[in-house]
Amino acid sequence: MTSEPQKPLKTPPYSDIDLNRWREYDHVLTDSLWLMESRDRTGGHQLDYHGNFIPQIAAQTYLRYTKENDIILDLFLGSGTSAIEAARLKRRLVGVELKPDLVEYVRDKISPTLLDDRIHILQGDSTNEETATRVRKTLASMDAEHAQLLVLHPPYHDIISFSDDPADLSNSSNLENFLNLFETVARHGFGLLEPGRFAALVIGDKYTKGELIPLGFYCLERMQRAGFRTKAIVVKNITGNERGKGQDSNLWRYRALTWGFYIFKHEYIIIFQKPANGA
Ligand SMILES: C[S@@+](CC[C@H](N)C(=O)[O-])C[C@H]1O[C@@H](n2cnc3c(N)ncnc32)[C@H](O)[C@@H]1O
Repeated sequence: MTSEPQKPLKTPPYSDIDLNRWREYDHVLTDSLWLMESRDRTGGHQLDYHGNFIPQIAAQTYLRYTKENDIILDLFLGSGTSAIEAARLKRRLVGVELKPDLVEYVRDKISPTLLDDRIHILQGDSTNEETATRVRKTLASMDAEHAQLLVLHPPYHDIISFSDDPADLSNSSNLENFLNLFETVARHGFGLLEPGRFAALVIGDKYTKGELIPLGFYCLERMQRAGFRTKAIVVKNITGNERGKGQDSNLWRYRALTWGFYIFKHEYIIIFQKPANGA
């Protein structure tokens, strides 16, 4: 009896998804609406930092846009969700975070066998050219010229204050300054990313003085100015990301009915691609 010949592996140039077996990838999302039940608390993830994203965002983007051993660059690392997920999915990562104490905290979470080898955590200001130079040197120490996925999860302007540091984007004095600093980081990320590869921007909108400020769309526009092409706007529920709001939700509902707004229940994961010719 002869067995069926095995089809050769057929993957996109940027992922390990075997297109011959595409029906087996139910766990990989392709719809633009992500309704996630709850935060994945397995594999070393905790809700230990106000403003962190749920690990599923990292997992989904890594599976879609990277191969094993590829390097993810996260220029707003925070509490290191993207680093923990990179270790779990056998990817490498370079992360930059402004707050020195947080950098130490994240370094403690990473297995010593991976730290400063497959996972690099740098303390620095991502708007700074000197930080981009350090990232480039770190990539060189990993035998790479570029990262293969850029992750950007900036402060949503001033809705959470992360530190007193004037370089912290959450301390930008006004919206224009915030967007200019964000664009500077986006431009550094663009230069550090391999042509043809992808970037994921995680961002939400905000209200100021009774007006909705569409930070997500403004940041999208800045990514385009930096040279990226937009591939998708994913809308994700934020219910699984919140601490229990309890009685507060009734108050917000009352306020919404009074003032005519809708209560934020979503944020965006906006996917971009750097053109293959690098232009
Ligand atoms: C929304 S949080 C990122 C959370 C992260 N995705 C996680 O899961 O923990 C934004 C982070 O950007 C950091 N940050 C703000 N300005 C920065 C800058 N100029 N350079 C580097 N990091 C900065 C803040 O300290 C904060 O930790």
